[in-house]
Parts: sequence; C-alpha cells; structure tokens
Amino acid sequence: MSAPVLTQPVPAADDLTPGMVVRVDIGPVAHGGHCVARYDGRVMFVRHALPGEVALVRITEAKAGSFGRADAVEILQADPERVDAPCAHFHPGGCGGCDFQHASPDLQRRLKAEVLAEQLHRLAKIDRPVTVEALPGDGFGWRTRVRWALDPDGRMGPRSYRSHRVQAVNLSAPCLIAAPGLNELAATLDGPPGGRPTAPTGPARRPVRRAPAGRHRRPELPEVTLVRTQDGERLAVWAGQPGAEISEHVADRDFVVAADGFWQVHPAAAQTLVDAVLTALDGVDLVGGTGWDLYGGVGVFAELLADAVGITGSVVSVEGDARATALAQRNLARHPQARAVHSSVEDALAGLGDEVDVIVLDPPRSGAGRKVCAELAARRPAVIVYVACDPAALARDAAALAEAGYVMTDLRAFDAFPQTHHLECVARFAPA
Ligand SMILES: C[S@@+](CC[C@H](N)C(=O)[O-])C[C@H]1O[C@@H](n2cnc3c(N)ncnc32)[C@H](O)[C@@H]1O
Repeated sequence: MSAPVLTQPVPAADDLTPGMVVRVDIGPVAHGGHCVARYDGRVMFVRHALPGEVALVRITEAKAGSFGRADAVEILQADPERVDAPCAHFHPGGCGGCDFQHASPDLQRRLKAEVLAEQLHRLAKIDRPVTVEALPGDGFGWRTRVRWALDPDGRMGPRSYRSHRVQAVNLSAPCLIAAPGLNELAATLDGPPGGRPTAPTGPARRPVRRAPAGRHRRPELPEVTLVRTQDGERLAVWAGQPGAEISEHVADRDFVVAADGFWQVHPAAAQTLVDAVLTALDGVDLVGGTGWDLYGGVGVFAELLADAVGITGSVVSVEGDARATALAQRNLARHPQARAVHSSVEDALAGLGDEVDVIVLDPPRSGAGRKVCAELAARRPAVIVYVACDPAALARDAAALAEAGYVMTDLRAFDAFPQTHHLECVARFAPA
C-alpha cells in the first residue's frame, strides 16, 4: 500500500470526507472493535489502532454533525504490545471478521475487559473488576463454524468490514481463525446446487430493496456455512439447503445439532460455559425443584438443570427455532423430567407458571430485554444465570434485573472469539 498522504490544509471536522487522511491521538477502546479518537472535537471510531497510540487515519465515513469512522493507516507512536497481524485479510478496508489481530493476546483480553467494565458501569451502574479469561489454544484456527459468501467472480470468504464485498479467502491467503481444514473445504466448493450467481447485467429483474437508513444493503449472494465438528468431520451447508445433523459433545454427553444451527464456535467454549454455569449454581439446592433454560438451543443447559433437579424436579427449555427445539426434544428424551417448547421466550412466559427455582438464559446478541427480565425477576427464583455474548445487552439486562430486585453476585468473562471484539460472559444474579 502506498504511504498515506496527510490531508492538507488541515480540514475542520465538518469538512472531512471519506478518503481524507488526518492525524489523531487514539483514545480508549469502545464496544465494537474500535477505539475512540477526537478530531476537532468530533468523535471518530478508529479501527486498527490501539489506545494511547498516535496515528494517521483514513476517514471511511463522515457525516456533518455526527460521529465519523476511520481506519489507522500509519502508526506514528505504537503501543509496545502492538504485533504484526499475521492474516493477509486484516488491513484497512479488509475483512470485517477480526478486530484485534494487531494486539497481543493479553492486550486483546484487557481491551475486552475494559469494554465490559465500561458497559456495566455506564448502562447498569455496576462497578466491578473484570478479567477476561483465555480459552485453550493460540487464538488462531478456533472458528469451527464460518459463514462465507460466494460472489459472481467465484471469490469466497467473509465480507469486508461494513461492506458487502467478499474477502477472497484461498489457500495462499487463508482465513487464519477458521478451524483446520475449513479453508481447504472452501477451496473445493464451486457453488450451491443450481450453480454460481452470475454478475448482474442489464436491468434488475426484481425491484431492488432499499437498505434501512444507516445500513449497507447486502446483495443476495449465496452463503455457505462451513463446519468442523469435534470429531474432525468437515461439512458445507449452503443457505436454503437442508443441513445435515451432526453430533457435538459437552459435559460428557452427545448432542444432536443441525450443522448450520447454533453451537458455540470455539472448540473449548461449550464446555467452558457449562462449567461456569455449574459454578454459578453451586450451593443452590435444586433437587426436586424447577428450572428454566431460556433461549435453549438444542438443550445444553436444560441437560445440566435436569441433572440438578433430578427425577423429582422439572425442567423446561424454551427455544424460538423449530428445528433446534425438535433436536432439543431428542437430546432431552433421556430425562423424563425435561421438555423443550418451541416458542419465543416472550410468548412462552405466561404459560410457564410462577414457580421456578433457577433460570438459565442465553439470549441472542440483542439480549432478553427489559420486559422479559422483569417477568423473570417477578417469579423470585433463587438464582438467575445469564450467559451473554454481548456486553452491552448484558449491561442493559443487568440494569433491568436490578430494577426488579436482582443483583449481580458473580461475573466471569471468556475470550471465546480471539482476534475479534466478541466475548462470552456468565453472570449470576440473586435477590438483592
Ligand atoms: C446464543 S443461542 C443459545 C443456544 C443454547 N443456549 C446453547 O448454548 O447452545 C440463542 C438461541 O436463542 C434462540 N432465540 C433467539 N431469539 C429468541 C426468542 N425471542 N425466543 C426464544 N428463542 C430465541 C436462537 O434460535 C438461539 O438458538
């Protein structure tokens, strides 16, 4: 890449346009995989930089009166823990899959801890020291599931950052976080049944849907989920095609999972979360009691609860996806005291009754929401264990639980997505 040329003369914040290069002092890390910098008083979210660095940044988005986005293109003063990113796709304008390849693993975890602590402080008024724990491995080759797109030129890979462009992953420039064999599997694929997409020529046959304001419209490219199971089996499932069933193992048990359905992507994550949930339940006598596993997927936490309540207790798993629920029903068939219900959590709550001793919830990135949190707390369970993949959603829901009389009594955080800004948390809540 040619050397960035500092924009001259120095523009005011309102005159910034994409492509301009300006010098900024990089401030703290923010949720989303970037750092905050100020230019002429205007907030800029800068990727590929680290807190405390001084950098030349290329503006990627600028709207008068709003925050901007930029990419660090030259580091003038580097953090001592900056490292050379090993992946060919990790660069300004490159892949959107990784955010922190330029930071040492320790620094990545400290950045994630800072984000989690900041979200809890700002959104839930919770101040507590946060540590993000490493999972086994060197931080590469861990992604056992990737969803890649195929463009009309035959390029396959993840999308570029905030763009529909496909990052062409191939064997000379592989994705370094993909699990062993997934780059090789991708290289064998020619396209979905029915053939590759063709480059659009002439007028569109269907009216083009406009993207909601502020969002990038993604052309409808075929997407494929590539999976490596714990047994080393590799599968490709094209979107819209029936996916195979596979077997995954956690807590010394086998679970049937849809190959393109939800399962933790880091090979050590499912067991780590199971252990953390069990720790959170320590000391609570659940025998003969009632447990709920909300957003239950194929029933992993329901399985733990079924053991904890025993044959005289009862467990319900609630899951919004029909196929995952059907698989949960099969997985839980070994426990007569457990059942899986296909419903949204919001709709299911009214029918679940008022008696519950323990609730495990593992909502999607958007969180459970204020209403669900209030309804859970109203049942007065002895403990609520919240498995979270988004620190902001966890913080918002922690605030809602606090309003309803539940305080966070323990919090663990895990680096289940090395090189990215994502993390998994297990938070324990009990009556205040
Ligand atoms: C993060 S996954 C957790 C799955 C499961 N606990 C596990 O560890 O395998 C979240 C699950 O919530 C489901 N889901 C999303 N929104 C839902 C809703 N409103 N009601 C019920 N389930 C929902 C998704 O289908 C997904 O299976």
